[in-house]
Amino acid sequence: MAYKRRPWTLLPHGQLTKIEDNLWAVENNIPGARFPRRMSIIRLKNSSLLFFHAIPIDDTTIAEIKSLGYPEFLVIGHDQHAMDAEAFREKLGLKAYCPKDCEAKSRERVEISGTLSDIPHDDSIDILSLPGTKHGEAAIVVKSPNGHVSLLVSDVIMNVPKEEAGLPFRIFGFTGGPKIVPAFRRLFVKDKDSVKKALNEWANTPGLSRLVPFHGHIIETNAAAAVRGAAAAL
Ligand SMILES: [Fe+2]
Repeated sequence: MAYKRRPWTLLPHGQLTKIEDNLWAVENNIPGARFPRRMSIIRLKNSSLLFFHAIPIDDTTIAEIKSLGYPEFLVIGHDQHAMDAEAFREKLGLKAYCPKDCEAKSRERVEISGTLSDIPHDDSIDILSLPGTKHGEAAIVVKSPNGHVSLLVSDVIMNVPKEEAGLPFRIFGFTGGPKIVPAFRRLFVKDKDSVKKALNEWANTPGLSRLVPFHGHIIETNAAAAVRGAAAAL
């Protein structure tokens, strides 16, 4: 059955939060569930804005974001993170990109301009695809003007306290962390050693100071240790 793209659906969301001079975020819950998600907004060297994931936001927040730079790119972590992506892409007039490994499924959900390697080079970011997984989910390293380095991940590491999640998520092990949740292992991992190796390489990113998961709290201290710890437990 063809995928039915979801129309623009505005739900309650948090305020636009500044993380660095070139990095902001907005959070809300996954539609229909009590489980947090985060859209990150990165300002590139030429003042273009790159969105990592899409959350419909109110007009005030859109205006606030537009005052930061020129909305141009949308990166979806993988096809299952694209529920609101097409409506968001259309509303903000963005070009959307996805991992190569889930390109076909992503194209059902979003008008795709290319895969991750087609995103124009910018010195302030590195765009990664997680080896050893079926979907090749995206991650982004963001280098900020003050020297801080943030690693933004999709599903591979979550960090959701149990009191912030609905019962089904607690039962199925989505809470606690930072961790690789059981569903990720079951659904996405095809070569555990490759995933571990990649995470350990990501942990060695020079200057890594922060881990920004799609689901859950940002880790501001010992980010590299958190990534290594999640990898070791896989
Ligand atoms: Fe997810």
